[in-house]
Amino acid sequence: MVKIPEDVIEEIRSQVNIVDVVSQFVQLKQSGKNLFGLCPFHEERTPSFSVSEDKQIFHCFSCGRGGNVFKFLMELQNISFPEAVKKVAEMKNISVDDKYFRGSGNSQSAAENSQQKQLIDLHEQSVKLYNHILTNTKMGEPALNYLHKRGVTDDTIAVYQLGYAPAQRLLKPFFDERKVDFQLLRKSGLFSEDQDGNLRDRFVDRVMYPIRNGSGQTIAFSGRLLTTDSDMPKYLNSPETEIFNKRKVLFNLDLARPNIRSKDPAILFEGFMDVITAYQAGIKSGIASMGTSLTEQQIYDIKRITHEVVISYDGDTPGQKAIKRAIDAFNEQKSQIEMKIISIPGGMDPDEFIRNKGADDFKQLIIHAQAPIEFELSFLKKQYNLDSEVDQTNYIAEALKLISRVDSSISRDLYLNRLAQEFGVDKSLLQQQLAPLLARPNTQASEQQHAYHKPAQTVKQQKHYSLVEKAEMQLMNRMLHYHDIWLKVSNVSGFSFVDEQYQMLYLLAEGYFTKFDDYNVATFSNLISEDSLQSLLVDIDMLELPDNPTDAEIDSYLNILMHRAPVEEKLKKKRAELKQATKIGDVDKQRALTIEIVKLEQQKRMKQQV
Ligand code: UTP
Ligand code: MN
Repeated sequence: MVKIPEDVIEEIRSQVNIVDVVSQFVQLKQSGKNLFGLCPFHEERTPSFSVSEDKQIFHCFSCGRGGNVFKFLMELQNISFPEAVKKVAEMKNISVDDKYFRGSGNSQSAAENSQQKQLIDLHEQSVKLYNHILTNTKMGEPALNYLHKRGVTDDTIAVYQLGYAPAQRLLKPFFDERKVDFQLLRKSGLFSEDQDGNLRDRFVDRVMYPIRNGSGQTIAFSGRLLTTDSDMPKYLNSPETEIFNKRKVLFNLDLARPNIRSKDPAILFEGFMDVITAYQAGIKSGIASMGTSLTEQQIYDIKRITHEVVISYDGDTPGQKAIKRAIDAFNEQKSQIEMKIISIPGGMDPDEFIRNKGADDFKQLIIHAQAPIEFELSFLKKQYNLDSEVDQTNYIAEALKLISRVDSSISRDLYLNRLAQEFGVDKSLLQQQLAPLLARPNTQASEQQHAYHKPAQTVKQQKHYSLVEKAEMQLMNRMLHYHDIWLKVSNVSGFSFVDEQYQMLYLLAEGYFTKFDDYNVATFSNLISEDSLQSLLVDIDMLELPDNPTDAEIDSYLNILMHRAPVEEKLKKKRAELKQATKIGDVDKQRALTIEIVKLEQQKRMKQQV
C-alpha cells in the first residue's frame, strides 16, 4: 500500500474540528477551556474524558487514552490509521487519491484481517444478495409487494438495504462458489447445521432486515414471514455470534445518532418496523432494542449521546408493561436521562399510528408526551380495584413512593394535591407519609449532579510522578512549545532523556521539526503510531505550566535529568532487587543490597547540595 503523504494527512486533519467528530459519539459539556463527557472507551459514571478544541486533541484522565481526531476514530471503531484518515476525509467531502487506501487488503494488520472483519464481510455480501433478489428478480416479487403494501417505499428499501431470502436456499451455494471457509460460514449465524454437520441457509422465505452496529456495519439479520398464519415465529433473528450480541445492539443507532445529537431527543421504539416507518416519515432519531428489555449496555450507549429520550412503545397491554420496565431500567442506572412517555391511542403500535394518522399527528404525541411519573401513576392505578378501601390505601402508599422520586419539590406538591383531591384525604397526612421516603434517593441524585459539574480535577491529581518523570514531562512540554528551548537543550552535549519513551518522543519530534516550523500537538500526533507514546504526548501537552519559562527552570530540569537521574534510576533498581531478595529470603544478598542503597542515597544527597 502507498503511504499517505504527511501533508495530505495534515490537510485532512486541519479541516475537521475534533469537537464535531467526538460530539457525534459523546455528549460534551463545556467546562472551562475544555469540553467534558463520559469516556466512550470504558464504563464510567462521572466524566473524565475531555476534548480540547484549541489543541484538537482528546484525553481521558481515567484510562489514559488520548490523541488527535484520527486516534479517536481508530480507538472507537477499531480501524487502522489509513481507514481513520479516509473516514475524516469523507466527512468533509475531501477527495483523496484512492491509491492510498486500495492496497490495504494486502498489508492487512492483524486487526483488519480478524475473524470479526471476515464475518462482517460475509454479512455485507449477504445484504447485497438478498437486496438484489428483492428488488431485481421475479423471485422477490411477493416480498416486494408485501413491503409496498405495508407502505415501505423503494427509497426506504434502499436506505435500510432490505432484502428477501427466497424459498430456495441460495446463500450457501453463493458462498461455496466463492470458496469461503466452511468454519467461517459455520460461525456466521447465517446457516443452521443439520445432524450430519451440513450447513443450510437459516433464513428461508423471509423479508430480510439487516441489523447494523453503531458503526453501520451489518452484523446480523432479522427475517420476517410474509404471512403470519404459520406456526413459525414472525421474526427470526440471527443467533448470537462473535459479532452479534442482541443485548448490545440498538437498531438504527448509526443513522439516528447525528439527528439525536443535533436537535432531536432519541425516540425509543419496541420494534424495528416502527423505527423504519418513522424514518420514512421524516422522524429520523428512532432506535429500538431487538425484542428484549433494555439492557445496561444499551442505556449506557443512549446516555453517551443524549440526555433526553422519548419512549414510544406499543399502545397495547404488553407495550405498557414494557414501558414500565424501561422506566425502571433507566432509573436503576441512575442515568439522569430525562424520559418522556408517549401513549399511542387505540392499542396501535407506532408504525400503524404513523401510517394511519401521519407524521404530524405523531409529532403531536411527542410534544404532549407524559413525564414518567404520570405514566407510572396511571399504570399503577390499573393494578388496583379502587372501589375497595384496602386497595385505595395500598394504591396511595405505592403512589407516594413514586412521587418521592420526583426531583422538583413543586412537582411533588402538585401530585400530592392531586392525590389528596382524588381520594378526599388530608394533604398533610400524605405529606407526613411522604417525608421518610424523601430522605435517601434524592441525596444520591444530587451528589451525582454535583460530580458532573466538577469534572475530572480530582482524578487528574491521582497520577503520581517521580521527580525525574516530572522533570522529563515538563522539559518536553517546554521544548515542544518553545523552539529556542528546543535548540538550547538539543545543543547540550551528552543530553538525553532518562526514560526510553521520552527519548523516543524526542527523536520523533526531531523529525517533526524538520518538516514543520510551528509546533501543533494534533499535527505531531499524526507521526506517532504507538499508542502509549500518543497518550504520553497528550499527557505532556495537557500539563498546565505558566507562560514564559525562565532559564533557571530549564536548568533545573537539566540538572535533574543529567546529574540526579542516574543515581535515582540505580536506586530504583536496587530497591526492586532488595524486595525480590527479601521475598526469597536471600539474607546475604539483602545485606549487600542494603549497603549499596545507603551509599546511593548518600550520593543523591550530595548531588542535591551541589
Ligand atoms: P412486534 O410484534 O411488535 O413487531 O415485535 P412489529 O414491529 O409490530 O412487527 P410487524 O409490524 O408485525 O412486522 C417487536 C419486536 O420484537 C421482536 C422484533 O425485534 C420486533 O421488532 N420480535 C417480535 C422477535 O424478535 N420475534 C418475533 O417473533 C416477534
Ligand atoms: Mn407492527
